[in-house]
Amino acid sequence: MARVFLVTGASSGIGEAAARRLAHEPGATLVLVARREERLRALAESLPAPATRVAADLTDDDAPARIAAHVEDHHGRLDLLVNNAGASWRGGFADAGWENVARTMEVNFNAVVRLTEALLPLLRRSAPSAIVNVASTAGRVSRPGAGAYSASKYALIGWSDSLHAEERVHGVHVGLVMPGFIATEGFPATELLARPWTRWMVSTPEKAAAAIGDAGLGRRAERYVPRPYGLIAVLRILAPALVRRALAGGAGRSMTTATRPGEG
Ligand SMILES: NC(=O)c1ccc[n+]([C@@H]2O[C@H](COP(=O)([O-])OP(=O)(O)OC[C@H]3O[C@@H](n4cnc5c(N)ncnc54)[C@H](OP(=O)(O)O)[C@@H]3O)[C@@H](O)[C@H]2O)c1
Repeated sequence: MARVFLVTGASSGIGEAAARRLAHEPGATLVLVARREERLRALAESLPAPATRVAADLTDDDAPARIAAHVEDHHGRLDLLVNNAGASWRGGFADAGWENVARTMEVNFNAVVRLTEALLPLLRRSAPSAIVNVASTAGRVSRPGAGAYSASKYALIGWSDSLHAEERVHGVHVGLVMPGFIATEGFPATELLARPWTRWMVSTPEKAAAAIGDAGLGRRAERYVPRPYGLIAVLRILAPALVRRALAGGAGRSMTTATRPGEG
């Protein structure tokens, strides 16, 4: 039987890698979502499974209804929703202010909640089904210059845990993926990759895609990428002052711009 997997942010990075990985699942049909249609078309043509696409800005008012209508009309079911699309604009709060928090929340949190709301009836009808929310290690610890981004990912994690508890009786699993540094277009990790002694900290979109598979099809609660990043979350609870001191170390360097793409 066909299994339908929808991936947002499929036009690059982790989303593209997730779509490529999921396309190898038996019976897979992909629904690809992002703004850059040409990228989605090229990806769809290169996949070993059938794929349809919706070019949409997920922050548009009508995006959730358009996507839900597309899935209903073309596929009639949904087995996995991967809420992966996201963005980051770095900037300290005193400079970048509420405006930066608002635009980041709009993409990384509000758009996820709105799309999930539109697709939940179909996910319930297709149960056992799953949702994977791609959060971040930055949703467990906050660095200077990334407050807006961290706020959006903390919110996503909190909401996901609650949704998991509510939806399990309906057969809809909710899993989380927490990437650390993954070299992608939006999160190039250029400085870390440039130094031999920090290069090891940067992982690949393919590893994040494997974690999405585990959290969705494998129905795991959450996966860090790479796994040892989970220790940072544990330390944040056990030794908050220590973690704050360590993360504040790069404050002077990292709070300089409000619009440069961020690091995850
Ligand atoms: N890479 C990291 O280090 C890292 C670490 C932790 C978490 N993450 C999270 O992983 C997810 C994927 O990021 P990535 O590293 O793969 O970055 P990326 O290569 O920049 O990909 C971001 C994707 O999101 C889509 N997108 C952004 N804004 C959108 C909007 N308004 N409407 C529709 N699609 C939108 C982009 O497509 P279009 O531009 O075509 O719309 C693109 O496909 C994000 O949620 C990010 O926060 C990444």
